[in-house]
Amino acid sequence: MRLILAPMEGVLDPALRDLLGRIGGWDLAITEFIRVSKTVFPDHVFHRFCPELQNNAKTLSGMPVRIQLLGSDPELLALNAQRAIALGSPGIDLNFGCPAKTVNRSMGGAILLKDTKILSEIVKAVRDAVPQHLPVTAKMRLGYEDDKKAMENAVAIYEAGASELAIHARTKVDGYRPPAYWKKIKPIAEALPINVIANGEIWNLEQAKRCLEQTGCSDLMLGRGALATPNIAKVILGEDKMQWKTVLNWLYEYSQYEVSVDMKTYYPNRSKQWLGFLKTSYPEAQILFDEIKREKTRDSIKNIIESNIEKIA
Ligand SMILES: Cc1cc2nc3c(=O)[nH]c(=O)nc-3n(C[C@H](O)[C@H](O)[C@H](O)COP(=O)(O)O)c2cc1C
Repeated sequence: MRLILAPMEGVLDPALRDLLGRIGGWDLAITEFIRVSKTVFPDHVFHRFCPELQNNAKTLSGMPVRIQLLGSDPELLALNAQRAIALGSPGIDLNFGCPAKTVNRSMGGAILLKDTKILSEIVKAVRDAVPQHLPVTAKMRLGYEDDKKAMENAVAIYEAGASELAIHARTKVDGYRPPAYWKKIKPIAEALPINVIANGEIWNLEQAKRCLEQTGCSDLMLGRGALATPNIAKVILGEDKMQWKTVLNWLYEYSQYEVSVDMKTYYPNRSKQWLGFLKTSYPEAQILFDEIKREKTRDSIKNIIESNIEKIA
């Protein structure tokens, strides 16, 4: 079984990827999507999204990271894929699942699921541009309004040369509302000769087991569950869920990261965002969130976390 850290734009950035990689259990992470619409990006853009490129495309803890591209122009995607590969990305993932209005309006993400031909052209162009020994993978939802074209789209993605396919078991219209329809992945996984990775609504060990059972897949991709229970990958591999005290230590650790964006707002915003996910798994996270929600600086939040750590010790 492989466990893959899902791409999450605005959430799973290089710092959090590194942190979750240190907690461990993950085989691979996919970057936040890089939206390709007009140009071949200069190197610094790829390095901003994926600083791991400068470390052999691995986090410091050794978790491999693959770049994800989003767009609808096959040639431009292929040229950007070539750049990403030249900079060291160990493959390319293609986004056919993003539900965001702005992205869909400019013909990217899930809207492409309405047009099997364009999916095929994109995968083929990128496959032709990437050396054969490196994977070109795709991530799709079951469909846009409904899942009628799920099989047709998946087969087209495979026939165009994709090496593996992650399926988020919901349509665009389903958004992120539970449930995820894991059973709908099974016939696709059975029909395709390539590896199919199951994704959607896995928050704990029991759900991971049921998802494996209902999809017949051997690999899982997790997004929000990794933020809610930071050692979820290890929980799936047999460890106990991390204690709140350990979570607090990791929240503190997170404050130590230097990031390339505005440091003033980064940690206050992102730590509150992370606590929003953590509270689905730890009631203590809600209490901490209430304590820090009006704080505006990294230091003030860090101090509150430190005093919480001391209280537990
Ligand atoms: C805030 C957020 C950002 C996301 N960004 C991306 C992205 O950049 N690329 C992508 O393919 N999927 C993206 N997704 C979808 C996730 O990768 C995943 O498919 C979805 O959250 C379902 O899995 P989960 O239930 O394990 O979270 C995003 C989801 C969320 C909630």
